[in-house]
Amino acid sequence: LQKRALDERLQAETIDVTLPGIPMMRGGKHPLTQISEEIQEIFIGMGYSVAEGPEVELDYYNFEALNVPKDHPARDMQDSFYIDEDVLLRTHTSPVQVRTMERMAPQLPVKIIVPGKVYRRDDDATHSPMFHQIEGLVVDENISFGDLKGVLTIFAQKIFGEDRKVRFRPSYFPFTEPSAEVDVSCGCGGKGCRICKGTGWLEILGAGSVNPKVLAMSKYDPAKYTGFAFGMGIERIAILKYGITDIRLFYENDIRFLRQF
Ligand code: PHE
Repeated sequence: LQKRALDERLQAETIDVTLPGIPMMRGGKHPLTQISEEIQEIFIGMGYSVAEGPEVELDYYNFEALNVPKDHPARDMQDSFYIDEDVLLRTHTSPVQVRTMERMAPQLPVKIIVPGKVYRRDDDATHSPMFHQIEGLVVDENISFGDLKGVLTIFAQKIFGEDRKVRFRPSYFPFTEPSAEVDVSCGCGGKGCRICKGTGWLEILGAGSVNPKVLAMSKYDPAKYTGFAFGMGIERIAILKYGITDIRLFYENDIRFLRQF
């Protein structure tokens, strides 16, 4: 009886191994995660460590300690989401510069990158109310604007290609002095195309020497130490690298877009 029961069970439970299977969908990393990790790897390779800070931030760190007082017109460019008078969603990753210096002082060197989400009241094909940035900060003895140029040239050529040129244009940020906007030459080779809007150059980030006022507020003596800082939008880097036409594609989770990366 036992043998018969076993035979019947074996009979009932046969599986046809020749039937086609149900393939498992393999997931992948989101393109923004991929680019963010790629950027982080480049700087980690140059000796930077990764720091993070809160997305709900004090006005003091987001503006005040970065030399942007309450009545400063530079606040307009980052019109933002306030929770109350003193608390807001951070508009850039720069507040982590201040938080890190406060935490580390008087240790040297300060050499960090800061990936994270930031928030601004912007919404169109190339701007989203939430986007991602990577900040960089170096503070030490004898750090010059030349060091900044060297680091950013290496960075741009690693991300976009060894054949690319880098250009620094004078600009203004309250927390750096002097300040620059950095462009990388376009993949079209300067002929002018849709991605560079005919100019041959792509603007990729803002940067400069750390303003002595910011160093002083963050407990580093500006008479002894200097530094540089830079900040870039991760979406922007991805848009330029891949020629993406609408920033919203990153957040819609359409598999036909995501599987191209
Ligand atoms: N925080 C600036 C922005 O979001 C970028 C920046 C960072 C500029 C560091 C200079 C130095 O526009």
